[in-house]
Formats: sequence, structure tokens, C-alpha cells
Amino acid sequence: MSSLLLTGIRQLVTNDSTDSDLLGVISEAAVAVVDGTVAWVGPEADLPSEHAGLARVDCEGRAVIPGFVDAHTHLVFAGDRSDEFARRLRGERYEDILAAGGGIHSTVEATRNASTEALLEATLARAERMLRHGTTTIEVKSGYGLATGHELRLLEVAAAVGQRSAIDVVPTFLGAHVPANGLDSAAYVDLVVNEMLAACAPYARYCDVFCDEGAFSVAESRRVLEAGRAHGLGLRVHAEQLSRTGAAQLAAELGATTADHLDQITFEDAAALARSQTVAVLLPAVSFSMRSPQPPGRLLWDAGVTVALGTDCNPGTSYAESMFFVVALATVETGLTPEEAIWASTRGGALSIEAGDKGVVEPGAVADLVILDAPSYAHIPYRPATNLAWKVIKDGRVV
Ligand code: NIG
Ligand code: FE
Repeated sequence: MSSLLLTGIRQLVTNDSTDSDLLGVISEAAVAVVDGTVAWVGPEADLPSEHAGLARVDCEGRAVIPGFVDAHTHLVFAGDRSDEFARRLRGERYEDILAAGGGIHSTVEATRNASTEALLEATLARAERMLRHGTTTIEVKSGYGLATGHELRLLEVAAAVGQRSAIDVVPTFLGAHVPANGLDSAAYVDLVVNEMLAACAPYARYCDVFCDEGAFSVAESRRVLEAGRAHGLGLRVHAEQLSRTGAAQLAAELGATTADHLDQITFEDAAALARSQTVAVLLPAVSFSMRSPQPPGRLLWDAGVTVALGTDCNPGTSYAESMFFVVALATVETGLTPEEAIWASTRGGALSIEAGDKGVVEPGAVADLVILDAPSYAHIPYRPATNLAWKVIKDGRVV
């Protein structure tokens, strides 16, 4: 925890929900941080004298946004699937590679065989790169263990990353990623529901399931999610990614915290999400890497659904670590405006993990901030693939 004063902010994104503009922008602003928490925000000319003596960081006319909240990652993995990426570029299908025992299964094998030390080092390196790209909180799923002890180990590695890095980690149990090799899906769901959840739930905040062709049906996903809830976990769902299954409506019906991917949704699915409190987590870097249809960001936003963004960082469908890239894709490829995409990558992400004190810059908020090496947030989608983080501040400390 630390205290500091940011001055010289040309454009400050606060995401103040009481403001008429979505991002609650303040020009020529200052932010005072005391003990890791935002204490004061406003035009620099109005800075109260009590904060004038804090250690000062002069932003020299740059823009400041809340730290990115990456709402969906599979960060704990070992192995290398760059060859699979190249095979897909040559025309092979992801589903066929998975069905033939490759894909996720090859990562499961590599991950099970990796030492805990090696897994932690690799995961920590990814988290640290994310932090350098302005991401201050990440949701992290298990899912490459597919057996009780292995899934537990992945959640322990996720927790260790949160301790070793300044980045905040929100752990999700994804034992129901795909049925483990050799088990049919019904038998595997029995294992998840009767054994894995009891062991893993104490180390997770959420329970997720991959509801799709080649993974779990809607009925199986319902069993997993209801069991997850009975173990005290919030719910997230991989929904309508490769095929439309009805998973988005299941998420809405169960009051899941998030429904993720949503590339194949219908108008009815969007309407069902809009009637629920479920946050739509869009992952445009997956569609980019997979050369598959992008999620309909414009449709979801206009339907009134709360939208968040994530990298989905994983070795198969999206080895992307930068939310700058995701914001660029969310605008150009899914039809969000720059304002909507910035909001979704910060406040939307915070709502997707039920962190009311993140993704905003207001008194009492966690002081997670990115000073952009640019005069406005509009430069983020405008200059894709550049790391525009000039300085990253986590809990009030420059990291
Ligand atoms: O979110 N959809 C399922 N899980 C990941 C991919 C996992 C993998 O291919 O290793 C995803 O896209
Ligand atoms: Fe995923």
C-alpha cells in the first residue's frame, strides 16, 4: 500500500456512474491516493491543500485510466501449441484436433508433467507481462488438470501467482473443461460433482463449465453449475463459442455471474441475458486467433447487457496477454465504440468479478491505474499492438 499524488493528467477516465458521459472523463485532473486507496479525484485546480504534500507523479499531459480487469484467462498451463496454431492456419479444425486427443488434452499432459516450480514460473511470467501491459486484476481458471489433485494444484499455483505478483488473481474452478481422456462425459461430470468440487471449492471464487460440442451438454453443464453453487461458488459459463447450445440462456436462468464468448448467440439469447444480471464477457482475441466469427458486441450492448472483455489467455485458442490488443479488437471487430470498449475492459471487468471498488477512480476505490503514453484513451484502439502503458500503479504503488 502506498500514497501518491498524480498531477498533470490531461484526460482522466473515472467511470463515474453518476456522470452523464459513460467514462466520467475529467480534463486537467489530479488523483490523490492514500494507503493504496483513492482519496480525492477532480480538476487539478481544485486539489485540496491536505493532499498537496503527497509524493508526486507528474503525468506531463498524459491520459490515465483505471487498471484493466482481464475477466477471463486460463493462465496456468505448460507446454507449447504453436504447431497446432500453424496447423489450423493450414486448414485443420480445432474441434477435429481436440477429438483426436490433441488440443486441450496435449496441454493437460504437459501441465500434469510439469513441476509445480516450473508451472509457477511460467504462469508468473505471463502475469508479469500482463501487469506491464496495464492489467491489474486477472480472473484465472484451472482446467488443465482434469483430475482432483491436478486441478487443486493449478488453483494453488494461481493463488501463488497472486502472492508473488502485484497483480490481483481471482481464481475459478474449471474442472469441467473437457472430459478427461478415457472417461465419457457423464462419468466425468460425476467425478466433478461428487469429488473434485469438494476438494477445489475452498480455493476458488467461481465455478465454470465449457458447454459446447466436444465438451459438455447443457444438461451436464447445469449439473456442474448447480453443484458449484451448492459449494458456495459463483458461476461462469463458456457459452456459444464453437456452436450454439443454449448455454447463454442457461447462464441467465441460473443467475450466473458471467456468460463468456457468446460468438454464436441469437437475438433471443441476448434478450435473455439483458433480462438477467449476467455479465457478457467477450473474448475477441479468440475469434482473431481462430479466424471464427466475432461476438456481436454492438448487439449485446444495445440490448442492455453489461459487457466485459478478456484476453482468454490460453495456449490453444488465444495466446494473447494484452488488453490493449483486446480493446482494439472489441472496437474494430465487435462494433463497440472506444468509450464502450474502455469501460468494458475496466469497469465491466470489475463487475464481472463482483469487485465494486475496482474499475473506477473515485474516493474509496482501489488505486489501480494506468498512465498511458498518450494524451487520450482513444489512442488505445487507434494504435493497436503498442504497449501504451507508461506507468502502471497497483494499490497506489508504481510497479
Ligand atoms: O476459452 N473453450 C475452452 N477453453 C479455452 C480453450 C482451451 C484450449 O484450447 O486449450 C477457450 O477458448
Ligand atoms: Fe476460456
